[in-house]
Amino acid sequence: MFISVHLVAGQSEAASSPITQVYNPYPPGILPSDLSSEITRVQREVDLIEERALARWHTLKKPILTGQPPILQNTGTEAIETLGELMLYDRNISPGKNQACASCHMPYAGFSGPIPSVNLTMVAFPGTVHLRAGKRTPQRHPYAPFFPVFQYNQVQGLFFGGNFWDSRATGYKLRIPDAEQAQGPPVDTQEMGFPDTACIAFRLSQAVYRPLFEEVWGEGSFDIKFPRETGRICATPGGAAVFGGNTTPVPLSAGDRTRANIVYDRWAQSIDSFEQSVQVSPFSSKFDAFLAGKYTLTPDEMAGFKLFNGKGNCNSCHLDGRGTTLKSDQADTSAAAMMNPLFTCFGSANEGVPLNPGNAFYYQTKPDSYGFIANPYGFGYRDLGLGSFLRSAFGSGPNPNLNWKQYAPTVDGQMQVSSVRDVALAPPQCPTTEAPGPYFQKAFFHNGYFKSLKQVVHFYNTRDKYAYPVTSGHCPKGTTEKVDCWPMPEVRNNIDMTSGNLGLTDEEENQIVAFLQILSDGFTRPYLNSDTYTGACMKGGSATTQGNEHLILTPLLPACASAICGVAPVPSPSIP
Ligand code: HEC
Ligand code: HEC
Repeated sequence: MFISVHLVAGQSEAASSPITQVYNPYPPGILPSDLSSEITRVQREVDLIEERALARWHTLKKPILTGQPPILQNTGTEAIETLGELMLYDRNISPGKNQACASCHMPYAGFSGPIPSVNLTMVAFPGTVHLRAGKRTPQRHPYAPFFPVFQYNQVQGLFFGGNFWDSRATGYKLRIPDAEQAQGPPVDTQEMGFPDTACIAFRLSQAVYRPLFEEVWGEGSFDIKFPRETGRICATPGGAAVFGGNTTPVPLSAGDRTRANIVYDRWAQSIDSFEQSVQVSPFSSKFDAFLAGKYTLTPDEMAGFKLFNGKGNCNSCHLDGRGTTLKSDQADTSAAAMMNPLFTCFGSANEGVPLNPGNAFYYQTKPDSYGFIANPYGFGYRDLGLGSFLRSAFGSGPNPNLNWKQYAPTVDGQMQVSSVRDVALAPPQCPTTEAPGPYFQKAFFHNGYFKSLKQVVHFYNTRDKYAYPVTSGHCPKGTTEKVDCWPMPEVRNNIDMTSGNLGLTDEEENQIVAFLQILSDGFTRPYLNSDTYTGACMKGGSATTQGNEHLILTPLLPACASAICGVAPVPSPSIP
């Protein structure tokens, strides 16, 4: 399959678009046929929101720097949040000036992946180099800033906090995981892909909103002497063989390097302030209105709520601010103990999701035109989540705390308990994630195996009842994958047994889905920029088998690569 990709160059500088060669190691069926036009569509939408943010900045009254300690009085909050917004939608923060954070996180999808056909097939979103792609589903921004600094709780023997599916943005240094998260993508080879963090300071120094940066963080923030070759270096994607593994190819003096690092910390804090703001995390759902006595739940929503903290046992991890009723015939009489519940316990669990062979990561085994290989192990890759992070193993980042490493075997396969707020958020014209729609196709869980919320709830309900010792695509004749056949988990260690055979009826599953749908922001007032989707809606079919036409056969899996499963302390029992 040949995919032509048109790079949309921003304010172009001579060497700004060196990324012309398309990398396509994918067999048929992985890349969606509309990928190129969809990338262009999202780019247009991102640019529109950036224009709106610029307009917002221009109408913003200047804050007054006053007091001791000095505070940006009156409009300081809005100034830093607007700065973060301008950064989030700025595609110049990538070597090819073709990718912003929002390229993978748009408001109309609750800040998850904006391309329905990608969610349906390859799951991971293409980066600045087309078509390198990551390995997991883009998580939502709303409420991510509320996760605490990653910590090991000695008494419980459990980890809490952090951002990313594997919690690797710990907040160990900035003390805000969500801010540290924002320092990942700009230098992630699969994402925005700069070769050096100093490139972010360099590009920000050229940004139209530089005056706002200086207003918030101080004049002189950009007093850095960038050598002439900086433009060329920063237009070359990270991982390129020319860098020979050097992660600081921009030659800066020690003082300038430190100043560039400080700009990068400010970048992170500004973005965090926008994601945490009432623009992105507003607590404006039907459920919030219900807690305030301003909305009456429908009978199905109320039934779903009771199942969520009753028979469904979801509330054990996705905390809704109430107690859990332990027996199915008991009524929930516990009052709300919290008026802004986050629907997460900040912990991690292995729910036993099957390996998803549609994930683009498995196929990036050959070097691209820069000599970079994303995944030399192919299907020898296994996503051990938190376990790989604690070991600083392939597929995660370095762990900053050696004491945590010993616990890796107890957390293999675990992923962040995501907040379920905004999990169902979809564009107004295709207002649901569920077939027959008109619907907006999402991908759920870290590897996007589930294509509807109905499938997610059905999995919690029947994982152990319909378990088969097969991989995806190989369910026995007479069964239907995701309906009455669940392939085996990708990682069999540490499987959580809270759910798996809940005994919910079909109607009860639907009621839980109805409850998840009232957790979408934008009910009490419009959700900022959720009106920007210009793509098509999908129609037809059934939520139970949604996306099944794109199931592909998992190949015979080679053993887990030693760069993942051979790193001490090794998984126990060992992972096939
Ligand atoms: C190429 C697509 C892509 C781009 C570009 C991208 N992200 Fe992400 N984002 C992802 C994926 C995939 C994940 C999950 C990754 C993981 O867990 O390994 C993620 C995770 C996150 C999370 C974690 C939320 C949580 O609950 O822990 C936040 C916040 C986030 N991204 C914000 C950003 C910001 C800010 C930028 C720009 C600086 C950005 N993203 C750029 C794909 C992308
Ligand atoms: C033992 C803790 C636990 C329980 C109980 C639990 N979940 Fe989850 N939930 C998780 C974890 C962990 C993930 C992410 C798993 C992954 O990606 O592999 C998740 C993910 C989800 C997601 C997808 C979020 C996304 O961003 O893709 C939804 C929806 C969800 N859960 C709903 C429910 C419902 C409904 C129930 C009750 C029937 C439930 N959960 C019970 C831990 C739990």
